[in-house]
Amino acid sequence: MLYASSHPLVRHKMSLLRSVSTEPKKFRELVRELAMLLCYEATLDLDLVPDTVATPMGTAEGAQLRTKIGLIPVLRAGLGMVDGVLEMIPTAQVWHIGLYRDERTLHPVEYYNKLPTEPTVQLSLVLDPMLATGGSAEATIDILKRWGSVRIKYLGLIAAPEGVERLARSHPDVDVHVAALDERLNDVGYIVPGLGDAGDRQFGTG
Ligand code: PRP
Ligand code: URA
Repeated sequence: MLYASSHPLVRHKMSLLRSVSTEPKKFRELVRELAMLLCYEATLDLDLVPDTVATPMGTAEGAQLRTKIGLIPVLRAGLGMVDGVLEMIPTAQVWHIGLYRDERTLHPVEYYNKLPTEPTVQLSLVLDPMLATGGSAEATIDILKRWGSVRIKYLGLIAAPEGVERLARSHPDVDVHVAALDERLNDVGYIVPGLGDAGDRQFGTG
C-alpha cells in the first residue's frame, strides 16, 4: 500500500527541499525533519503493551512500545534520515545496507552488508529518500527477507510511479510511506520533478 503524505508541514518542507537554491546544510536539516514526520505517520499501527506509571499526582494508565524496531538506511542517501527517526525511536537498532545504482544499467550494486546471521528485529524500516526505478528498494527488501525480516516498511521522500509499481509487484506486503509521489522518471532514471541526486545534495558532492 502506498501512503503519500498530505500533511501541511511535510508539503511545506518538501517545497524547500526540492528548491535548486537549497544548500547542503539546509537540505540535510530538512531531510532529518521530514524523516521524523514520516516516521510519525508510518508508525501509527505499532503494537503497545499496557503500562502503569507513577505521576507526581497519582497513577496513570500508559503504554509502551512492544515491537523491536530496526532502521535500515540505504547508503549513502538514506543516512540523512537516520537521526530524525532515531530521535523518535531511540531504542531502534541501525543496520546499514550499501547499494549504489549503476548509472548505465540502473541496476543496484550491493557493496556493504553486515547484518548478523539471525534477524534481531520484528519490524524493519527501510530508509532511502528516492524510490526511482525501485531497483534499490527491491534489492534491499530482498536482502531483509533473506535475513528473516517478516515485517518491513519503506520510508522515503519522493517516489516515481514506476518504482511504486515495481515494489507493489515484487513486495506487495511492504507498505511504502513517502512525502510525495512525483510524475515520472526521465530517460536517465531521475525522478521528475524530483530534487536531483539526493546523495549529492546532502553531501555536497554534485
Ligand atoms: C539513489 C537513492 C536510491 C536509488 C534509487 O542512490 O538514494 O538508493 O538511487 O534509485 P532506484 O530506485 O532507481 O534504484 P544512488 O544509487 O544515487 O547512491 P547514493 O545514495 O550513494 O548517491
Ligand atoms: N536517485 C536520486 O538521488 N534521485 C533520483 O531522481 C533518482 C535516483
